[in-house]
Amino acid sequence: MASASIPATLIPGDGIGPEITAAVVEILDALGKPFVWDVQQGGMAAVEKSGDPLPPALLDSIRRTRLALKGPLATPVGGGYRSVNVRLREEFKLYANLRPARTLIAGGRYEDIDIVLVRENLEGFYIGFEHYIPIDGDPQAAAISSGINTRAGSRRVAEFAFEYALKHGRKKVTIVHKANVLKALSGIFLDTAREVARKYEGKVAMDDRIIDACAMQLVLKPWQFDVILTTNLFGDILSDEIAGLVGGLGMAPGANIGVDAAIFEAVHGSAPDIAGKGVANPLALLLATALMLDHVGRSDAALTLRNAIDGMLRDDGVRTGDLGGSATTRDMTQAIVRRVSKT
Ligand code: NAI
Repeated sequence: MASASIPATLIPGDGIGPEITAAVVEILDALGKPFVWDVQQGGMAAVEKSGDPLPPALLDSIRRTRLALKGPLATPVGGGYRSVNVRLREEFKLYANLRPARTLIAGGRYEDIDIVLVRENLEGFYIGFEHYIPIDGDPQAAAISSGINTRAGSRRVAEFAFEYALKHGRKKVTIVHKANVLKALSGIFLDTAREVARKYEGKVAMDDRIIDACAMQLVLKPWQFDVILTTNLFGDILSDEIAGLVGGLGMAPGANIGVDAAIFEAVHGSAPDIAGKGVANPLALLLATALMLDHVGRSDAALTLRNAIDGMLRDDGVRTGDLGGSATTRDMTQAIVRRVSKT
């Protein structure tokens, strides 16, 4: 039986954004149109029209659908604009950043990597509470940055990580921290996450690592990790390290999950150097769409999509320039549409 289409906001975004979102929409059409799109402009495309990279119509649309697929948004340099991505996270209280990394192309430095990182997305040092202290006529003699982690904020992201693990058959959550030095800031996160872990005893295992040891172990023996749960800044750094284990940001999807909405995106930016050339790799955004399908309970369609991507990379030899091939966005889209249509 066909499932009903779910309303969702689609933000084509800047640079290669319109090309890769068009590819994703075409592939989803072949999958039976799981979403009905409300297309909204954001980023530079919106600045040109309305002077605001996040216009009210876009925000209203996400308030209505509570679900969005977002192409990369370029933040205008200068002019006092805050990062549009940080604004979106704050606006919709997107407290959990989910970044899965899985080996998709064999023969790289590491085989069989399958790690999911859950990063707290709103607290820690990202609250931007910073200032300078003038001393002896030097207005910027010292700089101070404060981080804030709350018990409530730590609990909700820890609950998200353990629930995710349970739902997706993951065996273990590793809490990553620096509580030996940042006893209050990192300690509150570790203690709260351990408390949450107790509720999952016998179902999902838990251990913890200090951030520096974790960074080294990820390079030495990454297979020991399953789900990693950590705070904002550590998560920012580790998620790029983990993406590096599977060949870089080119195929890294991300989900920002919140109380009020969930927004799915590729981790990479708008790639202005290749925009409009038809050679962008749509896979990161497509993998983000698979996360979006999981999120709305369409894991059947997510699996079809992931199998089509795996099959194409393994057997069809269709690869864009960033993956060492010479295929265009169009070639890759058609190869995936062919596979999706066969199932
Ligand atoms: P970038 O990720 O756009 O590009 C870095 C390099 O990777 C470039 O050589 C680019 O051609 C290549 N690349 C990226 N995605 C690709 C794809 N799908 N297929 C093939 N090659 C790809 O990073 P950059 O240049 O630092 O940022 C450009 C703009 O993107 C900036 O305005 C930045 O603010 C924005 N940005 C937006 C993000 C978002 O919306 N989530 C994330 C990161 C950057």
